Amino acid sequence: MNATSPLPVPTWREELEHEYAALRARIEHLVPCMEWSLHLPWIEAINRLKQQRGAVIMAHSYQSPEIFHGVADVTGDSLALAQAAADCDSDLIVLCGVHFMAESAKILAPDKTVLIPDLEAGCSLAASITAEDVRELRRQHPGVPVVSYVNTSAAVKAETDVCCTSANAVQVVESLGVDKVIFLPDQFLGKHVASQTGVELVLWHGRCEVHEKFTAGEARHARERFDAKLVAHPECPPEVLAEADFVGSTSAMGRWLAKEQPKRVALITECSMADNLRAQFPRTEFIKPCNLCPHMQRITLPNIYAALRDLRHEIHIPADIIERARGSLTRMLAVGRQERV
Ligand code: 13P
Ligand code: SF4
Repeated sequence: MNATSPLPVPTWREELEHEYAALRARIEHLVPCMEWSLHLPWIEAINRLKQQRGAVIMAHSYQSPEIFHGVADVTGDSLALAQAAADCDSDLIVLCGVHFMAESAKILAPDKTVLIPDLEAGCSLAASITAEDVRELRRQHPGVPVVSYVNTSAAVKAETDVCCTSANAVQVVESLGVDKVIFLPDQFLGKHVASQTGVELVLWHGRCEVHEKFTAGEARHARERFDAKLVAHPECPPEVLAEADFVGSTSAMGRWLAKEQPKRVALITECSMADNLRAQFPRTEFIKPCNLCPHMQRITLPNIYAALRDLRHEIHIPADIIERARGSLTRMLAVGRQERV
C-alpha cells in the first residue's frame, strides 16, 4: 500500500462495543451515539496500528473527545506536550494538535520522527509574526530580552531568548530579573502578564482568533443567567478577564476545578476543552462556550490513521533552526516544569 492509496473505511463490529465499553461510558454524554458507531472502528484501527508501530499519540486538550479519550497516550496543554516530547521513549510521535506544537516536539526530540495528521493545522498567533519581525524588534529595543509564547514558528523560536506557555509566562518573565522584556506575539496574554508582574512589556499585535471573540457581556450573561463561576484563558481580551473568577492556562483550569469543585462553571475558552474537562469532573455542570478552534478541528480519526499508516506528514526543520530554537525551549523548561495532571 502506498501513500496515495485510498483509506479503507473500517467497519463497525459488535465485539468492539464490548471491548470499548468503558471508554463509551466515559464519553457517552460527549459523543452522540450515531457518531460513536462511526468513530469506534477508527479508534480500534488506530490503537492497533499504534501498537504495531510502537508510536506514541500526543493530543492537546483542544482535541475532540473521540481523539482525546479514544486514542491519545499523552494529553495536556502545550507545556505538558512539550515536556512529554522531551521525555518520550518512542521513536515515533504523532502530534494531534497544531503545527507549532508538532514543531516544538521535533525541536525537543530531534532524533525522533514527529508526524502531524494535517500540515495545515495552523494558529493565528503563530501566523502573526516572522523571524524578521523579531529581528526588527531587537533592533528597535537593543539589549531587551525576547520572550516568545510557544504559539510561534520554529524560526521565531530560534530568534528568541526564552519561550513560555500560558502556564508559565509570569514565571518566565520574572525569572529574567529585568525591568523590560519584548513579549510576543499575543497582546492579550502580554497585557495579562504585565498586570501580574512589575515588568514593562513591549507587545506585538497577535491575537488568538478563538479567544478574541469572547466579550465581557457574554461572560456576565453566563454568571447572571446561570449563576456560574467564570474561568477564562489569558488569551481572552482584558475586559473578559476582568469578569472572571479565575484566569489560568489550560492545565491551571483543571487544577482550579479539582480544588474548588464549583456547582456550575462557564469555561471561557475553546469548546472541545470544555468537553474534555466535563468528562473529568462529572459533578460540575458546564455552561459550554461555543468557540471551536478551526485549526485543531483539522485533526480527525481518519487522518491520524493515515499518518500512522503512511508515516505522513513528517515535521522537518533545518538543523541550525532546531539548535537555536531548542535553547529557547529548554530555558523555558528549566524555569518550571509542571506536574502532569
Ligand atoms: P495552552 O498553552 O494552554 O495549551 O494553550 C495553547 C493554545 O493554543 C491556547 O489557545
Ligand atoms: Fe492558535 Fe487560538 Fe487555535 Fe490556540 S485556539 S491554536 S491560540 S488559534
